[in-house]
Amino acid sequence: MSGGDPRHLPAAAQADLAERIAFHGQNIYGAAAAFNSSPLYARLCLDIAADPDLLTLIADADRAAQVANLLFAAVHYLLLANPSHPLAAFFPDLTDRTPAIDGRELPRPAAEAYPVFRAFCLEHAAAIRHLVTTRRVQTNEVRRCAILLPAFALVSRRAGGRPLALIEIGASAGLLMLWDQYRYDYGPAGTAGDPAAPLLLTCEPRGPHLPSLPTTLPTVVSRIGLDLNPIDVRDDNAMRWLRALIWPEHADRVQMLEAALAVARQQPPHIVAGNATQTLPALLAAAPPDAALCVYSSYALNQMPADVRQRVLAALTAAAHARDLYRISQEWYGQQAQPRLELFTYTAAETRSELLAHAESHGRWIEWLGPNM
Ligand SMILES: C[S@@+](CC[C@H](N)C(=O)[O-])C[C@H]1O[C@@H](n2cnc3c(N)ncnc32)[C@H](O)[C@@H]1O
Repeated sequence: MSGGDPRHLPAAAQADLAERIAFHGQNIYGAAAAFNSSPLYARLCLDIAADPDLLTLIADADRAAQVANLLFAAVHYLLLANPSHPLAAFFPDLTDRTPAIDGRELPRPAAEAYPVFRAFCLEHAAAIRHLVTTRRVQTNEVRRCAILLPAFALVSRRAGGRPLALIEIGASAGLLMLWDQYRYDYGPAGTAGDPAAPLLLTCEPRGPHLPSLPTTLPTVVSRIGLDLNPIDVRDDNAMRWLRALIWPEHADRVQMLEAALAVARQQPPHIVAGNATQTLPALLAAAPPDAALCVYSSYALNQMPADVRQRVLAALTAAAHARDLYRISQEWYGQQAQPRLELFTYTAAETRSELLAHAESHGRWIEWLGPNM
């Protein structure tokens, strides 16, 4: 460690940041399930956590809890524009564009990446500092629609088949807003959606109960998203950031992202900019009166500070005095062992909650716990 080098963070701040990076490396990128891990990022975290120069570089990241994701996305973003840099040889998603180096097999081993990664970060220090202080973790994971779909079907059924008026809190680029434009394969639980849809999302059912799938998807009468920073699917730089947020080993996620973006560019989703605390009440009030009003969020409420989240939820309770409404929540809060799919039913008298499923955070599997249809 650096001791008293004035260019570095104070020791306590450095130790705090090092702990966050090490935690992320071990628990997030180093996930036990290989499909959900990033061996490259997990390995790099070990060295970043012990490197005062790198910790100082990311010290000003606005969202401390997301700092590891922000750093890796910033590096990946720059590398996607410069795939001939030697660092690209360690990135499984970039090695197809990188010539073999001295006949060595690609991608190069993660255990050898750190010196090259470090040099890249220091060469691009200004750009990285800018990215980690201005960008957000806005990963838009289209396969999460496979988790939402049985919940939308349940809401439609509970609402007597009335069309849905949908509001997504934290929509990012809006790829989940287009959930009824995709087709789904749940293995033994069956299929859903238009067989001619260009994007197929697969999801493995786990546990004793299969999710109930609708024979026809519910009708959507209106759909609107809201986000602090809506991502425009026609903006190439914003698309590169979305792409950079995907970990380098996850080729299937890149393919789904690209296919979903092609759908979204045909019909860019309408997303209102602003904090949900400000924008949600008016959208609730403007929803078509005869529809089943259904608000949903996916890995968005868990990004909000507790007081912001409380204000968002209070807006729903307040709106329930004028009409019944539903909220589908696909979230993973820090203290929970695994992600939860929940349905909240709001009436003037009460808010009722039901746990519908546990699910993998990128939508790869669902363990259905809700009612059968
Ligand atoms: C991780 S992304 C998830 C995107 C999408 N729901 C999904 O699951 O693929 C979380 C999104 O929530 C947005 N967000 C976070 N806090 C917000 C707030 N207070 N108001 C509106 N949007 C917010 C972020 O800007 C980001 O785009």
